[in-house]
Formats: sequence, structure tokens, C-alpha cells
Amino acid sequence: MGNARIGLVGLGVMGRNLALNIAENGFDVAVHNRSTEKIAEFVSNAGDLANRLVPSETPQDLVNAISSPRAIIIMVQAGGPVDATIEILAPLLDKGDMIIDAGNANFHDTRRREAALREQGLSFIGMGVSGGEEGARFGPSVMVGGKGESYAVIRDIVEAISAKYQGDPCAAHLGADGAGHFVKTVHNGIEYADMQMIAEVYGILRDMQGRTPADIGALFEHWNTGPLQSYLVEISARVLGASDPETGRPMVDVIVDRAGQKGTGRWTVIEALTLGQSASTIEAAVAARSWSAAKDTRIAGEAILAGSAPVAGAPALADDDLQAALLAAKIIAYAQGFTLLQAASEEYDWSLDMGRIAEIWREGCIIRSAMLNDMAAAARAGLPHGQLIFAPGFKDTLIKSTPALRRVVAAAVLNGQPVPAFSAALAYYDTMQRGRGTTDIIQAQRDFFGAHGFERVDGGSDHHGPWAMG
Ligand code: 6PG
Repeated sequence: MGNARIGLVGLGVMGRNLALNIAENGFDVAVHNRSTEKIAEFVSNAGDLANRLVPSETPQDLVNAISSPRAIIIMVQAGGPVDATIEILAPLLDKGDMIIDAGNANFHDTRRREAALREQGLSFIGMGVSGGEEGARFGPSVMVGGKGESYAVIRDIVEAISAKYQGDPCAAHLGADGAGHFVKTVHNGIEYADMQMIAEVYGILRDMQGRTPADIGALFEHWNTGPLQSYLVEISARVLGASDPETGRPMVDVIVDRAGQKGTGRWTVIEALTLGQSASTIEAAVAARSWSAAKDTRIAGEAILAGSAPVAGAPALADDDLQAALLAAKIIAYAQGFTLLQAASEEYDWSLDMGRIAEIWREGCIIRSAMLNDMAAAARAGLPHGQLIFAPGFKDTLIKSTPALRRVVAAAVLNGQPVPAFSAALAYYDTMQRGRGTTDIIQAQRDFFGAHGFERVDGGSDHHGPWAMG
């Protein structure tokens, strides 16, 4: 048996960076990759850190190189490749050893894998890692699911490699089996909504106000010094300030408006619906990406449907309106994410700690922002009716900024400028701010055509209306 504290399989960009991060923090790490030529290449380019890397030509070499109880991180493409890697490793391991999936797995797969490996006497940790390449190398936010005692074995490594918020590691064990991957999935769903909302502001400034990328970038840079301070606003400013080296044009202007998606945003929406929730802002963002992919249809539509001329009466929008609207919509998106996390926590018995989740998102991850510190404090203080939008501070911000969100949505709609995430946020807010909605008539309709029954306002359930048949 060797002396490496941990092993890592999968030397793609994320795996390489994670291995270097582990090595830099003083842990010896055995590394393996299915295409073995990558192993030597990686180690020979690792500079001073090479002496902490143990190149392992075969899975058996990898297993032999690690001290007991063994812990092996797999960082391969989500889905089949994870199962294939587990199938290779599991027979080589001893009881009490552990496999850690650090990819963006679907949490249902994580639950299945955890149960299967538990049967074999092995531990399985589903570990959501956020922060992209740079995060993996210099400090990601890490969301851990699995057995607490399994996490205890690797906790020192995970905390050492993670980002720190004022010294506090942005890493935590959040719950059993798929909890870590579920939280990472919702993180990504919120990431989708946040990015889409920034894109909607960019669209209004570009298309309705004719502003240049540099000008919009400067505005975002300014916003990044206020309540919207966040990694995504910061990088949006930088992106908008960049020029294409080939043409000298603004970089963003030479990028095709067709975005991909790997699944986590979509899974967030699917799980929300399965749990009887609706993360409508996230759904809007996922839909916007899908529509973006229909580029040819949109080009055809521009000619076929031309004639959707702006309707008069749109309110003029000040930069402050857009800033306030983005703030309000963003709070609502995060609130929907937290509501979904709470629903899943109850369904899967995870006892998720919302305060801790917000805390470990304050640094390292893609959605890190100043607002998350306030969200963590609000969750720690207890959310009224379990709702972030009712929390003192957030409710005040919403009451103050939703008039701007209304103006922005109204102006965009009258101009034919799509703002699906902003519209979804506003519709959710308006639904939640009134006690009497309109599903009384839906109940009546259901009872009319299907005798589904309804509750009466003066008491009792399973009543039926005086609908005549025929
Ligand atoms: C992160 C990111 C990262 C990646 C996702 C989203 O937290 O570091 O979310 O996991 O960007 O895979 O990718 P798509 O936008 O392609 O779905």
C-alpha cells in the first residue's frame, strides 16, 4: 500500500486543476487517466508540484498507491463514464474505501450509486464542485453529499482546497447520498437565471437604447461596486470590454447568440416540477437557452413575423431602473432556488441547512455575490414562512425595487424585447404578494368537467357546484 492520501481519476481540465490544488495544499495525490499518455504529460508539466503527484498507469497502480482507507475522486464526464469508472475501481477496493464523484452528476444517479456501493461495503460521496477551471485550481465551493463519517475521512483535504470566505472554508457536508449533487444542480439553475437576467439587461441596453458593449460593460463595472456585486456581473463587464483580436470589433459582437447547456439547469426545472414546485425564473432561463439554439428558426422568424412594431407608451428606462430590476429579479430567482432546496430536503430527508448553503456559495462558486452573505444571515435568522422574499432586508429591497422591475418589463414588452426571466420573476412576486388568486375558477372548471370537488371559503372540502349536465 502506498502513501498517497487520495487518488484522482480523470485528467481533463477540471481533474488536472483539482489534482494540482490538492498537491499544492500538501497532500500526495495518485493520478490516473483512461488515455494513459495524458498522465506523464500532466506530471511533467506540474513543475514543483510533480513530487506530490503519483502517476499511476493502471487503476490497480492507482489503488496500490493510496493509503487506507482509500479515497478516490473521479472527475470524468457525467453519466455513463462515471458508471464505467466505478465499475473498474470498485472490485479493486477494500471494504471501507471510498469513491468520490466530483462531476456534475444527476443526483438520482448519485443516490443509485451510493446505494449500490454501500451494498458492496464501499462509501460513495457525491461532491458538487463549483468555480470552473480557476476554482478547481485555486479554490472552489464544494457541496458534499454522502455519509458524514465518510466525509470526515477527507474533510481536511476538501476544506484545504476550497475557497475561503474570511477564513471560513466554502465547503460543507450538506446531507446524505445525493444532497451535494442536488445542491450543486440548484446552484447551476440559479446560475442560469442569473446569467439570463444579466443578458436581458444587456439586450435592453443594446437593442432599445443603442448602447455599445464598452458602455454597457462600464455600467456593469459600476454596478459591481454596489448591491449587485457578484462574479457574474464582474465577468460580464470584462467580457463586454474585450475586443476581438482578429477584427478589432467588440468580442461579444462576433459571438453567435446560440448557447449550449449540459443538463443541470434543465434538471433543476424537472426536479422543481416533480416536487410540485416551480422555479419559473430558472425555467425561463433554460427555455431562453433552448430558443437561442433555434437560431435558424429565429432568423426565418425575423422575416416572416416582421411587423411586431413597438407599441407606443413604453416608459423611459433609467440605468437605475435596470439596476433595481436586476436586483429584484435576482433575489426572486435565488428565493425560488432556496424554496426548491427546502422541498427536496423534506422529500429526501436531507435536513439541508440553508444558511450553510448560502455561506459556502459566498466564495469560489460561479454565483458568488455580496448578496449571498445577506442571504446566509437571513437564513440563519430564520426565514418567515420559509420564504427568502419575506425576510427582513430582502422584503424591503423587493418593495423598493419591484416598481423598477415593472417599468423594465413593461418597456421591454411594449418594445418586443424578450425578457422571459424578468417576466417570470415579476409574475411570481405578484402571485406571492396577494392572498386571493384566481384558481377559484380553475377549481370550478375542474369540478364542472370532472367532478373533482373543491373547498368552500366558509368551510369544508369536497363540495360540488350547481353545474347542470348537458
Ligand atoms: C460551476 C459551473 C460549471 C459549468 C456547468 C454549467 O459551478 O463551476 O456551473 O459546473 O459551467 O457545467 O454548464 P452549462 O452552462 O454548459 O450547462
